Amino acid sequence: NPILPPDLSTCDPKGAWTTKNGEVVILDVNCCPPFTDVQTDYKLPRVTKPRVRPAAHRMSPEYLAKYELAIKRMRELDVTDPDDPRGFTQQANIHCAYCNGPYDQIGFPGIDLQVHNSWIFFAFHRWYLYFYERIMGELIGDPTFALPYWNWDNPRGMQMPPAFDNEGSSLWDINRDPAHRPPALVTLTLTNPPVTDPVQIIANNLTQMYKEMIGDVESAIDFMGDPYRAGDAPPGRASGGSSEGGSHAGVHVWTGNPANDNREDMGNFYSAGRDPIFYSHHANVDRMWTIWKDIPADYSKDINEADFKDAAFMFYDEKKKLVRVKVADCLDYNKMGYKYEHSDTPWMAYRP
Ligand code: C2O
Repeated sequence: NPILPPDLSTCDPKGAWTTKNGEVVILDVNCCPPFTDVQTDYKLPRVTKPRVRPAAHRMSPEYLAKYELAIKRMRELDVTDPDDPRGFTQQANIHCAYCNGPYDQIGFPGIDLQVHNSWIFFAFHRWYLYFYERIMGELIGDPTFALPYWNWDNPRGMQMPPAFDNEGSSLWDINRDPAHRPPALVTLTLTNPPVTDPVQIIANNLTQMYKEMIGDVESAIDFMGDPYRAGDAPPGRASGGSSEGGSHAGVHVWTGNPANDNREDMGNFYSAGRDPIFYSHHANVDRMWTIWKDIPADYSKDINEADFKDAAFMFYDEKKKLVRVKVADCLDYNKMGYKYEHSDTPWMAYRP
């Protein structure tokens, strides 16, 4: 059976935990969403004109100003109406609630719901960004606003986009590795000792991208992640797809501050969404899913099992309505009304 959406009424305000050096640590954070028992099945609105997600390092000043305003408005809701599910902290808490244990799976008390390390990873985050983007558009009165993506798979995007590295901006977050401000280059794989030669870092990143998108992938499951069904124990790292465990995880670890207890913000599930860069990082993760789908291969890119397609989640939409969404309805992103501004993908030619 598929993973069911959580029952908000059973969210445990003290249920968030993480592990540190192999030990379970209870987190002092309540990441349960506001409660309502009014919920509907979400229907994708008809698309008239798709939103176009731009590369963050190429945003125009006008576009950046809109992005900053949207995040500022979300942050203001934290103060003026902390129970508004569109507020910045509420949005960050979604990630904590679905990843750090406050929800049990329906019908399986004591078994946590975890959206990472399995085949639901991409779909969950696609829906998460979908509503986040619509909320931003709603708060600035621009229904065409699209979430910029951090183009870390291209050498031109391999630094933190400058827009995020501005202390006066709503896009700033203090909880990042201070050694990784621009011009530091992102490392998509963690090597010990770290590589410092920029030419080598770029080559390693492109090699990693080729591997996780093409070279190491012989099935849809290899890329997407292992099956995760109702009643399964939360999957571990080894069950995640090539991209989730590769560049996706690499950027999280690289961005978070190693001096913090849990590498906050980007380095732990519960806090990752508190850094505005999380959403632009995930836009590129999502973009990688769209690109992988189009790479010719001798295996099928589709997973046709009902346990995959019928898996479902709950989100608040831009009008604060609680809606239930299914994996099946996000598999064609064109129907969701957005696309990505083109960037070259030099890693495709990086066959070792
Ligand atoms: Cu839900 Cu990048 O993790």
